[in-house]
Amino acid sequence: MNISKIKKTEILSNDDVGVKRASDIIKAGGLVALPTETVYGLGADATNPKAIDLIYKTKGRPSINPLIIHVFDNNYVFEIADKNKLAEDLSSKFWPGPLTLILNKKNNSKLKIAKNALADLSTIAVRVPAHPVFRNLLKKCNLPIACPSANFSGKLTTTRFEDVLSSFSGRIDAIIDGGPCPIGVESTIIKIKNQKISILRPGKITEEGLKACNYSLQKKENNKDIIAPGQLTSHYRPNTPLRLNVKKPKKNELLLSFGPLPKGTTGISLSEVFDLNEAAMNLYSSLADLDELALINSNDAIAINTIPNSGIGIAINDRLKRACS
Ligand code: TXA
Ligand code: MG
Repeated sequence: MNISKIKKTEILSNDDVGVKRASDIIKAGGLVALPTETVYGLGADATNPKAIDLIYKTKGRPSINPLIIHVFDNNYVFEIADKNKLAEDLSSKFWPGPLTLILNKKNNSKLKIAKNALADLSTIAVRVPAHPVFRNLLKKCNLPIACPSANFSGKLTTTRFEDVLSSFSGRIDAIIDGGPCPIGVESTIIKIKNQKISILRPGKITEEGLKACNYSLQKKENNKDIIAPGQLTSHYRPNTPLRLNVKKPKKNELLLSFGPLPKGTTGISLSEVFDLNEAAMNLYSSLADLDELALINSNDAIAINTIPNSGIGIAINDRLKRACS
């Protein structure tokens, strides 16, 4: 990492006192890790280019990979991004919630989002989060907050306070302890083009769900020019190799099972009752635990059962594939 462990990291409670302190730190240009309903994020004032620069440095993230701007409500969104009918419609249906929209940046906005937060693009990724702690923070500081997932670039995303602490203690100003994140995979990213929707990153809000609301989706083949910049590279990678679609693990492998862990097998179950939402919630934390175990036991790999490719299972499989690539 190119930033040394030199900071005293404050551990903040998720009540009003902790959130007030987090708000003061963000207003002063600092970095705070915080819980969202999807995954933990690393937040900073989106109007402060120095604070944004710190995000990139701390994560080891290439500066060409823009950040999602989080705001308190839909009115705020359309102060920084251009309105269109589809965007308004989607925002009233799905916000606050696990959705990110890629919109055109508003040119004459009074609120100046730092250029480096958007990697100089003319589009802007925006999200109105639902997590009560994050909402309280957005309200208290009354700023747009740039907030990528709280992990080192390319490594496993974090969904537990403990994992954020072990990665970022000594590197950022504060961490809010908000317990585990309920959804467990990053927000669905949607781009609107010619009044059609394309999903750039699958998440809790699914293609099926969008179709059920009568949205028409652009076909995948035409998506080449609108891939999210950060989706180009391999991602979410543990240190131990992963093997996907495994029925029975090999001798020196750990198992990440979907359904109950078979007797005599070492590993973790994503969901004993075959529940995809529970599996998503446990995905990154289970991988982090197995990765640590594999290091201690010198296991060859983490073997993973087949995850059904429907609903939020599509997002789980997307992340697992990238973790292997
Ligand atoms: O659930 C989430 O979205 C979490 C929480 C913390 O809100 N955030 C998150 O941020 O996942 P991050 O930075 O890890 O992923 C953001 C993705 C990246 O792949 C980035 O390339 C893409 O959004 N992105 C940002 N701005 C974009 C833009 N203008 N056009 C296309 N993709 C964009
Ligand atoms: Mg990320």
